[in-house]
Formats: sequence, structure tokens, C-alpha cells
Amino acid sequence: MLPYGRQSIAESDVAAVAEVLRGDWLTTGPAVGRFEAELARWTGGVPCVAVTSGTAALHVAYVAAGVRAGDEVVTSPLTFVATAATAALLGARVVFADVQPDTGNLDPDAAAALVTCRTRVVTAVDYAGHPADYDELGAVADRVGAVLVADAAHSIGSAYKDRPVGALADLTTFSFFPTKTVTTAEGGAVAAADPGRHARAVRFRNHGLVRDPAEQRDPGQGGWHQEVHEFGLNYRLPDVLCALGLSQLRRLERFRARRIELVARYDTLLRDVPGLTLPVQRAYVAPNWHLYPVRVRDGRRREVYDRMRAAGIGVQVNYLPAYWHPVFEDLGYRRGLCPQAEAYYAEELSLPLFPDLSDAQQDRVVETLAGILR
Ligand SMILES: Cc1ncc(COP(=O)(O)O)c(C=O)c1O
Repeated sequence: MLPYGRQSIAESDVAAVAEVLRGDWLTTGPAVGRFEAELARWTGGVPCVAVTSGTAALHVAYVAAGVRAGDEVVTSPLTFVATAATAALLGARVVFADVQPDTGNLDPDAAAALVTCRTRVVTAVDYAGHPADYDELGAVADRVGAVLVADAAHSIGSAYKDRPVGALADLTTFSFFPTKTVTTAEGGAVAAADPGRHARAVRFRNHGLVRDPAEQRDPGQGGWHQEVHEFGLNYRLPDVLCALGLSQLRRLERFRARRIELVARYDTLLRDVPGLTLPVQRAYVAPNWHLYPVRVRDGRRREVYDRMRAAGIGVQVNYLPAYWHPVFEDLGYRRGLCPQAEAYYAEELSLPLFPDLSDAQQDRVVETLAGILR
């Protein structure tokens, strides 16, 4: 089965991991800081904190933003459930605002209509790699004193108005799952410009441990002493995986170039196929596309999905509106809440897109799809 997304692993990645395996530090060693520093080159210098997944990154970002039980988090439903689940786990009430019909990104007007004085965070999702409308969303968040979080699981290496993803929101989260643009197998990161939020993220990923005697309540215990002032978890990304990430980041520019090339080919090859709506791109963004999300019109998405899969092409659907998950249904969320997101979901189909996809493989995807729709 040709997958919809896949990692690109080179011998240089294997060598980087092997080198760490032969060394002294499998975790909490020097590769972590090196990976974070390299990542910050992609976030316009905004400092990064490596963690164990994109989900952990969202959890850490919400903690760093100060989300507490009873707070509201306004976000898009057209996302992987983790964007909302991590807020709900902190006791926040998730408020789903609808998306723009063309980009699938959080609609600033919809978010503006739903923020209140209880809104602690507004979370944008850069759907498919296309940055959200950050200037407008920042203004919405500012109006109520909320923190703007960017779930950039899809969009490392993308830019908005010549500014890189990572520098567009107060806190930005990344995922390094194998289908994503850069992989560490499992992994993620949080970019935080504010030193206080950055320090909170660093602490939370390591049990909340306070090591600096100057900050401890009882520093006289001895050199071994460390204290917990606020609960945290173990979200540390090991050196083995940071070495892989570091090696992958060195190829990110090439990954991006190939993804852009493949998207341009899809745009051209699918232009005249009937019954399809192709993804749009705003004039002021430079996306590093993670997905190529077409919309299959005329109620044929299910049929096209089944027939593509039967032909060995592993198309995917991104995403079930988050509040359709029974866990949200049981909390009282009802279908119909965000009509644009539901309409998007009803038609969406992600075609294979990854750097090692060959032109010949892509041609087969196009021919199979066109054959079904013509
Ligand atoms: C938009 C979005 N947010 C968050 C995540 C969670 O990332 P991870 O799988 O690394 O936990 C994903 C990945 O599936 C995602 O696509």
C-alpha cells in the first residue's frame, strides 16, 4: 500500500543515531540541547523545548499558558483530537469555533464571536501545513487577554507574511511523528518566546523538578537535593531521538522543496479532473505542505476512499470533527456545531505526499483518482 505519509530516513540519520547509542548519554544528554538549538533556527530564534510527542507538546503548552480547570480554550474542530483533548484533561472547557471553508483553518471571526473573559487560550491549527491567519487571531486573543497557541504539527518550515512558523504565536507546538515533515519516531517540541513560559515548559517536562538552589525552599539539604513546586510529568525526548531529529532538520530544506514540487504537480495534474476541489493557498503564506487535502464533491468521498484503498493507494481522511468523538458527545457537544468543519470533513481526502514519493508513484495516484471520477 502506498501510504499517505511516510518518513524519509537516510544513512546519515542511521549514523547519527548509532553514534549516540555508542556514547554515554542515551537521554538527558547534550543531543537534546543541540536539537533544540537547531530547531530554533527554524522558529526565527524562538527557544524550543523538546518533548516526547506533539500531544505532549500541546499539554506542556497549555500548562505554560496557565490553563486551569474552568478556563476556556477556543480552537478548531478540524484537527487531530489531541489539540482539544489535552486542554480537556486540564479541566478546561473546549469551545469549538468554525473554520474557513477554503483553508480549513480556524476562522478569526468565528473565534472572535466565542471568546469571553474566561478564555485563557486560542489555539490555531495550521491545517495541512498552511499557516492560519495569525494577525487576526492574535488580535482576537489580545482582546480578552488570552494566550495564542499554534498547533503547528503540520507546518514546521512554513511561513506567514515572511515570518516563520514558531514565531507567529505566543506558544507553538510541533509533532515529529513519522508521517510529519521531520521525524524523531515519536517526538514533539514547544517554542516559547516568553522566558517565563519557556521555563515552565522546561520544568513541566521533567516532573516539575527545581534544581537551582537559588529557587529551592530548602537548599541546605545537600548537593543531591531537588524539589517539586508544581506537578509535572516525564516528557523528556531522549538523546537517541534528538540525534535523529537533528539529522532530519539538516534535510528539512530539501524535504520542503520536494513537498512543494509534488504539490505543484498535483495542482497541475488534477486541475481538470471533475468533481474535485483542490487546496487553496493565501497569497501571503509559504506553506511547507504536510497534507495534500482534496475535496471530493457530489457525496462521493466514501466511494473514492474505498476504491483508492482497494487500488493500493493509502489515502486518508483528516479529520473527523473533534467534537464528533464520543468523549465530547458524552460531554454534551452536538453535531451541527461547526457547519464548515463538518462540510469540509464530509468531502476531504488526503492524497499521498511525502518527500520520497516518486513522480511515477504520484502519476499512479492521479491516474487512479481521475479514472474513478471521470
Ligand atoms: C494537528 C495535530 N495536532 C497534534 C498531533 C499530535 O501529535 P503526536 O502524534 O506527535 O502526538 C497531531 C498528530 O497526529 C496533529 O496532526
